[in-house]
Amino acid sequence: MDTTNIQNDELILSQRILSGINSSHYQRIGVFVQNEYGKILSAHKESSSLSTLCDFTFGNPHNMALPTFLSSFHKYIEPLNVGWYGYCMATNPNTEPSRQIVALNLSKRFSPLSFQSEDIYLVKGNFGGLYTCISMLLNPNDEVIFPIPAWFCYEAMIISCQGISIEVNINLNTFDLNLDEIKNKISDRTKILIINTPHNPTGKIYSSTTLELLSNILLEEYERRQQKYGQQAQPIWLVSDEAYNNILFNNNKFYSPAEFYPYTFLCYTYAKTLLNPGIRLGYIALSEKVPLNYRLLFQKYLPQTLIVNGFQVPDCVTQYLVQDIEKLSISIDIENLEKKLNSVLDILLSIGYEIPVKPEGTFYILIKSPLEDDQAFCRLLSKYNVLCLPGAVLAIPGYFRISLTANEDMIERSREGFKQAYEEAMSSNSNQAIQSDNK
Ligand SMILES: Cc1ncc(COP(=O)(O)O)c(C=O)c1O
Repeated sequence: MDTTNIQNDELILSQRILSGINSSHYQRIGVFVQNEYGKILSAHKESSSLSTLCDFTFGNPHNMALPTFLSSFHKYIEPLNVGWYGYCMATNPNTEPSRQIVALNLSKRFSPLSFQSEDIYLVKGNFGGLYTCISMLLNPNDEVIFPIPAWFCYEAMIISCQGISIEVNINLNTFDLNLDEIKNKISDRTKILIINTPHNPTGKIYSSTTLELLSNILLEEYERRQQKYGQQAQPIWLVSDEAYNNILFNNNKFYSPAEFYPYTFLCYTYAKTLLNPGIRLGYIALSEKVPLNYRLLFQKYLPQTLIVNGFQVPDCVTQYLVQDIEKLSISIDIENLEKKLNSVLDILLSIGYEIPVKPEGTFYILIKSPLEDDQAFCRLLSKYNVLCLPGAVLAIPGYFRISLTANEDMIERSREGFKQAYEEAMSSNSNQAIQSDNK
């Protein structure tokens, strides 16, 4: 293929979109999928040996879909009225039961925080929810702070909305937020802070103390702005990415940043709880802690943001079935996920792998790479049919990530591969040490 032509043709594309696509986090994952992961999958497909792979790379399903989810899906495909398959915006009466039960369940879960159905917006998962918040709020050169390592698409979304992405490191000993660094990075131009808890890829749930301290920092900043700009002052908006807020281990308690800081968009996706990310479904929720003037503003403009972004609402049938997911608490088996977590931890720790912080939630375990070069180590693992995500791809070099969405069979089969790759890495480390001693 003549790639010079493609490069010339790219001139017709939107620079705004290209800058998002070319952003570093997005590129790193793209290059990994194209050059490493994709090639391994194709090679195994060609040799009909896909079933020999133990794939821990991404949060994709490796078991059949949940029967309870499927029976609800079938139920709502049957139209109940003539408007059933009509355009299905946020205020459509057919979706009212879904929004009501989300508000009710959130109010029960986070009491005394409460939610009203008119402040619940059904969106296409957290991709949709996060992009809706970012695109609705950002003006060119507004700054958005987020901690790294981070989910790969924050930076691309910010840049493609002409914002400036500002990264802050986490504490690598505890995987906790680095509050001093967040405070230092706040400027007059900071419009949004994105917090992801439980956190992908560390599995950390931020404690109530951490979130309270964070809220104090943001409220102090709002006070400073009020003194400086008076009535024109605007708060920093906290966009809370809670994709995994139902994937909790060991009875760990989850706190939403919305419980502590009033100016918070709570973004949730059903893709994790149901393990079906191909079904684009989630919501944005604003609690009653958000001052009424802002809630009224978003009631007017958030649905319109969804329209001008290209009618970014979930398909009508999926919007209706939210009521069943919520009423029946349809979910993957979290106990079983925790069993898988413990099996993987047993396997890795018995071999000698270092796991700095045991995950408290999410699908993920972050493990120290036995080789300094985590990409080289993941390549070594793949020689033994074990596929993992190198930390460098997620801006945390020196680690690699395992997704617990792999099935039990893959976990059991991976034991030998993890062992052999570890032993090979350790012997190459000691050979290197001998060579450098001899120099
Ligand atoms: C932290 C985080 N945020 C957002 C998303 C996007 O979620 P969804 O695919 O459900 O839109 C993911 C998906 O893996 C994620 O891990």
